[in-house]
Order: sequence, then structure tokens, then C-alpha cells
Amino acid sequence: MNGHIVLLPGDGVGPEVIAVCRPVLEAVGRRFGHTFSFEEAPVGGHALETLGVPLPEETVARCRAADAVLLGAVGGPQWDENPAHLRPEAGLLRLRAALELYANLRPAVLYPCLQAASPLKPEVSGGAFDILIVRELTGGLYYGARGRTEAGAGFDTMVYSEREVVRVGRRAFALARARRGRLTSVDKANVLDTSRLWRAVMHRLRAEYPDVAYEDMLVDNAAMQLVRRPGAFDVLVTENMFGDILSDEAGAITGSIGLLPSASLGEGYFGLYEPVHGSAPDIAGRDRANPVAAVLSCALMLRHTFGLPREAECVASAVLSAMTGPRKTADLAGPADTPVGTRAFGALIAEALTS
Ligand code: IPM
Ligand code: MG
Repeated sequence: MNGHIVLLPGDGVGPEVIAVCRPVLEAVGRRFGHTFSFEEAPVGGHALETLGVPLPEETVARCRAADAVLLGAVGGPQWDENPAHLRPEAGLLRLRAALELYANLRPAVLYPCLQAASPLKPEVSGGAFDILIVRELTGGLYYGARGRTEAGAGFDTMVYSEREVVRVGRRAFALARARRGRLTSVDKANVLDTSRLWRAVMHRLRAEYPDVAYEDMLVDNAAMQLVRRPGAFDVLVTENMFGDILSDEAGAITGSIGLLPSASLGEGYFGLYEPVHGSAPDIAGRDRANPVAAVLSCALMLRHTFGLPREAECVASAVLSAMTGPRKTADLAGPADTPVGTRAFGALIAEALTS
């Protein structure tokens, strides 16, 4: 198999975690007989500084021509005062929309070896859980009309078409079917009209997936249930903004946001893969970031874009074997441990892959 991957290192810790990924994918290639080729392109604050825009057209064109895109992170305090369209985040949002990546998969897994790092008591976390959040990514509040009225009020609008709900809904049902067969659709149907549409569409789809156990849940309740009985969830599907918030919450209860990968998919096999953690400017450039989220994003790429589940499993177990060892990255190290750096931990993962 030959695969071409565009790397978008971006800002903050992005370049450091992406640097770990290339050798990992090359090790997979050597072990299983695949060839991955790479090219880098600018995005976010890095593109703003060098080219004056957060998402150069050339970057979009290169991404479109590739099989997959691996993104580090965008953003940083130095651009906080920029107008909205010249913020690094605007580049990421435009890229998601331009590539029509409407389904964002965010797995949140509590590994038994990290149970102590979870802020939940073991009797609450159950010692281990495996949740997949499917976040709608190209609609809702993020993309609706926004602005200021003449009277100086601010507004954002949440709009969902039926088609937008159907396509992400189908993806979520299919993913649930391939996992433990449970789907929770999260909305705010007691208040929002977009949520009532969302729920009606999901109920229609449910008839097509009779083997999936389906439930509706209001978002405030879902936020609570996630910290009360995370083990009860399999797949959650929800609109863009709710998904943004719930996926950070789900991340936090796994012990470290530095562990969470994501895949953004549209129709077909193309995908954009990125760690859920942001640019973490406070630790950027200090070899302190946990590269696990980025490496697990590569595992998602192997599975969803390249159709290589065995290789994906192999990367995931290499990560696990590095994590169960005595050496911990700064986010997971105890007060008595000397943390291991981003590069060194990446090398441990690559080593586990070749052994
Ligand atoms: C995420 C991030 C982004 C989002 C930001 C950086 C625009 O929080 O991927 O979760 O809100 O989608
Ligand atoms: Mg977020």
C-alpha cells in the first residue's frame, strides 16, 4: 500500500508532536510493507506569520490531493487580539468546511494502567471505559450567521439542515454497530428547535439500525452522566458545539487530554487526523508535550483512511506498552518521577513497534 500524507504541524506543541509521528508511520511501513510519503504545509498562526492568512489556498489544494492530513495544533495567545478571520482557529474551521469533514470521531478511553490518573474514583470510572464521541463538525453554531446588531448586541445562529443530521447520524449508527451496539444521541430538544429536528431525524434512522440500542439524552444530563457512569456509554453522537464541550469532558476523565486522538471524516476514505489537545503554549518548545494523542491519531488514520485495522491495533498496543513502562510524560508523571520528553517517549513508541 502507498499513502500520501500532508503534515500540518501548526502552532505551539503541534510541530513537536507531529515530529514524533513520521518515524512511527515509517516503522509501520517497514514492518508491514507499506510506503508512506509526506509533505508539510503551513496552517494557523504559523501560516499567518509567514503568509498573512491562517489557511493558504495552496494548503487546501495540497490536502485535497493527499490521502490523509495529520494536523498538530493551531492557536496561541499572540493572536488573541486578531480579528476573527485572522485568528489561527479560523484556518482550522475553514479547512474542516472546505474538505467537508462533517463527522469528527473522538474516542475517549480510560486504560486500566492509567486508572490512577483519572479524576474519577475507581468505583465511578469502573477502572476502564471506552467511549466514542461523534461530533458533527461542519454545521451548527460554528458556521451559522454571526455578528453585531446596530444596537450593539452580539448574535450567533444555530442552523441544521436535515441532510446534515442524516449523514452524521448514519455514520454514528454504523460505528455503533461495529462496536458494542449502543448509541446515545445528545441534544437539547426540550429547548432548541435544531435539537427537535435532530431528534426526529435520529428516530427515523433508528429504524434502519434495529440491532443498535438507541437512546436520546439531553446535553446537561449527558454532561452529568459522563462523570457518574462513563462505562454505560458506547457511542455518543451530537451537534458541533455540544460535541466540542463533551469531548473535553470525556478527555479529562481519561486522565490526560494529552492522550486523545481524533479523526475528521467526510464521504469516502479521506480524513484529517489531529490530537484533541490544543497548542498548549505554556509548554510549547520545551519537549514536554505528550505525543500519545498525535500517535493515536495516526492509528485512526491507518484504520479509517488506509483500511489497515491490524496496523492500527499495532500502533495502539505500542503506545500502551510505552505507557505501561516506568517512564512517564510530564502530564502523567507523579511528583517523584522524572518526566520523559516528547521525543524520547516517541522513540519508546517506535521501538515498541519494531520489537
Ligand atoms: C477542538 C477545538 C476547536 C473547536 C477550536 C480550536 C476552534 O476546541 O477541535 O475541539 O472548537 O472545534
Ligand atoms: Mg475543543
